[in-house]
Amino acid sequence: MKKKIKIFDTTLRDGEQAPGASLSDQEKLEVAHQLVRLGVDVIEAGFPISSPGDFESVKQIARKVKGATICALARSLNKDIEAADIALKPAKRKRIHVFLATSKIHMKYKLRKAESEIINIAENAVKYARKFSADVQFSPEDASRTEKEFLYRVIERVIKAGATTVNIPDTVGFAQPDEFGGLIKQIVNNVPNINKAIIAVHCHNDLGLAVANSLAAIRNGAGQVECTVNGIGERAGNAALEEIVMSIRTRKDNFKNISTGINTREIYKTSRLVSKLTGFVVAPNKAIVGGNAFRHESGIHQDGVLKKRQTYEIISPEDVGFYGEGLVLGKHSGRHALSQRLEQIGFKLNKTQLQSAFIRFKELADKKKEVFEEDLMSIVEEQMQDVPLVWSLVGLDFYGGIGVEPKVAVALKKNNKTFKKTSTGDGPVDACYKAIEKITGIKAKLLDYSIQSITRGKDALGEVNVKLKIKQEEIAARAASTDIIEASAKAYLNGINRVLFKTKKSKSIRL
Ligand code: KIV
Ligand code: ZN
Repeated sequence: MKKKIKIFDTTLRDGEQAPGASLSDQEKLEVAHQLVRLGVDVIEAGFPISSPGDFESVKQIARKVKGATICALARSLNKDIEAADIALKPAKRKRIHVFLATSKIHMKYKLRKAESEIINIAENAVKYARKFSADVQFSPEDASRTEKEFLYRVIERVIKAGATTVNIPDTVGFAQPDEFGGLIKQIVNNVPNINKAIIAVHCHNDLGLAVANSLAAIRNGAGQVECTVNGIGERAGNAALEEIVMSIRTRKDNFKNISTGINTREIYKTSRLVSKLTGFVVAPNKAIVGGNAFRHESGIHQDGVLKKRQTYEIISPEDVGFYGEGLVLGKHSGRHALSQRLEQIGFKLNKTQLQSAFIRFKELADKKKEVFEEDLMSIVEEQMQDVPLVWSLVGLDFYGGIGVEPKVAVALKKNNKTFKKTSTGDGPVDACYKAIEKITGIKAKLLDYSIQSITRGKDALGEVNVKLKIKQEEIAARAASTDIIEASAKAYLNGINRVLFKTKKSKSIRL
């Protein structure tokens, strides 16, 4: 019998809890639509009671995103459950996820409650949630550090109260794979009514074992795994969706008759989207989606791959939607070829988007002999930005060198008017940002800056990621160019434009 493991994606809830990863409503919606294309079963859209912003974004996702169950988190409190219910109302398929800590340390110091009280609260919360939804998930928080006999009792009681999924969180990433797999097996063997619910697991990565623990749980009876794209989440993050899915797929011998409903060809695109919107750069050596995951550097490896790919490749890059550095288009390619190629890598652009992508492609092809698929992805992601360009870069000049103070002249356009300023700085990027500040009058604190090349070669596109703080707003932005100062300026301006769009307070920020 084939068993389908449900993929419960919590990028928008636990993932967004990662420090500095805040997303706007529009960005959350964009991620949720992409998660549907990826084929996840459940999208945990947020924690509605936690803030009016979270409430609104869960509601929007529930209204607009079809094709997955939409889930909202709630503490075991009536007001939380009611907020979750209201936010989830427009959803076609909805789930309320209630949680309550059950470990001794949490009960004693955080909740200050005895075991009997915990069981009652959990039971009542599940019963209450069932009044609003037939699909209710309960999580005994810190389950992996909970006394086993107590855990079994809690699980039995919440299932009796109507929980249809029981999630076992390794909240602090403390578990080891054999032990965590063993815990799932013991739950299967010791909870009398366990067959009335699906066992889920939710593993954190504090010891780097979130994926290993999740896989061990699947081998021992779990039917759902909770995970995030790129493994983002609280502290060291959650189990990475792409690693779990590709492990199951690649090691069918280990996961006999087990599958997921994920369209793996959407993995790379989803990873890039989440990275772009959160500003969390994916490490080059990250499994499955890192820039080096399919690169072979040593001569022996390259030779082996040329003779037979499988000598050093256990996954075909195309299977995760990574098309590598294959040359795709040159400077003589036309609009039709571009549109066809974009469709092949999963982007369907409207006429206007295609036109601006084509202009950008031609500019790039003029500077760069070879345009690769990754370059195209970067161009398209830029074109598809949903943010109006209040400020756009129209000119950039810089002078400098060793022992020479860098000086940058910037020209920006706003409402068809061009503004110019020059500035010096600690380096060309600093000088450029100071010139932008002089023109826009917007003070942005640069919290983070990183640059990497998208493909190889001296003419490769450099992709700059910045994290800015403008007033109280933290925002991530990126841009790419063969010129890294230009990419730096554009990334910075994208951040400014995003904040202007997000806060809709252009007037209150001096322009
Ligand atoms: O880590 C955790 O325990 C959680 C619960 C709310 C499931 O995120
Ligand atoms: Zn968590």
